[in-house]
Amino acid sequence: MKSREFIEGYSKLSKEDKLQFIANQSVDPEAFAAELMSFHHEDPERQKLFEEISENTISNFFLPFGVAPNFLIDGNFMHIPMVIEESSVVAAASKSAKFWLERGGFHTEIVSTVKIGQVHFSWKGDFEKLKGVFDELKKELLKSTEAITANMRNRGGGILDIELIDMCEHIPDYYQLKARFETIDSMGANFINSCLEEFGNALKTFIRIHPAFDSESKDVEIIMAILSNYTPGCRVRAWVETTFDKLDGIDENLSGKQFAEKFAKAVKIADVDVYRAVTHNKGIFNGIDAVVLATGNDFRAIEAAGHAFAARHGKYQSLSSVSLQDGKFKFMIELPMAVGTVGGLTSLHPLAKISLRMLGKPNAKDLMRIIASAGLANHFSAIKSLVTKGIQQGHMKMHLLNILNQMNANEREKKLAKKYFANKKVAYKSVKDFIDSLRNS
Ligand code: MEV
Repeated sequence: MKSREFIEGYSKLSKEDKLQFIANQSVDPEAFAAELMSFHHEDPERQKLFEEISENTISNFFLPFGVAPNFLIDGNFMHIPMVIEESSVVAAASKSAKFWLERGGFHTEIVSTVKIGQVHFSWKGDFEKLKGVFDELKKELLKSTEAITANMRNRGGGILDIELIDMCEHIPDYYQLKARFETIDSMGANFINSCLEEFGNALKTFIRIHPAFDSESKDVEIIMAILSNYTPGCRVRAWVETTFDKLDGIDENLSGKQFAEKFAKAVKIADVDVYRAVTHNKGIFNGIDAVVLATGNDFRAIEAAGHAFAARHGKYQSLSSVSLQDGKFKFMIELPMAVGTVGGLTSLHPLAKISLRMLGKPNAKDLMRIIASAGLANHFSAIKSLVTKGIQQGHMKMHLLNILNQMNANEREKKLAKKYFANKKVAYKSVKDFIDSLRNS
């Protein structure tokens, strides 16, 4: 690793100077700067829009925007946009969509859509007294947020309730205001955080002026006011189901019933072994993150909530389950999914807007259904491959193009390589040998 020059006030530099400073750290600043600039959008207005999404922007980072076509979700037919760097994810989702299209498609259910926010505070006063005047306090808290919540209330959402929680058994003098929110079609982070910060101010004022509290207990320390990204109350289920006979032919060595039983064992393993569970759930997030990104939603929040939910029984386990009953295979995932279709990046990023248009302008609940179905689709493809032919055959086929691009293969070489490897195992060395032999002949 090589140390670089320290800089004070980088954020205050002009865009050109920011880029130049970074380029100057390289051995060939001119070429480095040109390379970065080659990824700028040709339309300066568009470029400005992307730059202003984040800070200290010096270029754009492209990811492929793909489509997994032919999803049938709750009887609605759609083509799902996916943004992902890993080859074979879009192909796996597409294959799965086609497979389930012929077997009734994906089914979903919204379990609930409630989100949580907390004001964490320290206070040395008499908790019983505070509890005694909590109804009064609650009114003040709601009053303090009336202006912020007006729009949301008009749309049918807002603050659902507020609880006061004694946390002193964990940390001395520590309490919480824990509020539940309905944020309709927005992810709601800004709305919730604004409400919580107002709660914090209102709580301090309430205790300071209320006659129930003596002068020694007038001071409340607001430690922090922030939404919780753990959203088990905003949760979706998605499942596919079919009879065993409709799984016949997936693998030449397994009947449909045998395939279903082997598949169920693979899922069960993720319930008892954390090393498998993490990879198993990662296969679900391959599909989920790709749609979350394509629609401009917060994939870190969704990942964090999903993994916490996977550990809700005190042990990290599978987010999916299989039931084999009455000759039927049913494969289901259930997980938290806090997404929005209005506000934030969903209304700013041109490609997020296109994604939502492609999906028929879904509301947040519909988007939860779509994202969960994409996750299940990828997950099904992964387990299906794992319990039959293995994952590498398909994966390396998709990876072939990446290897060829690493070797700067031209279109003719790519065409010949694809033909040559159609029935052969793809490995970096064998592709290199093939290209070398072409180039030497
Ligand atoms: C690869 O991106 C995802 C898988 O590892 C998921 C799994 O193992 O279930 C194939």
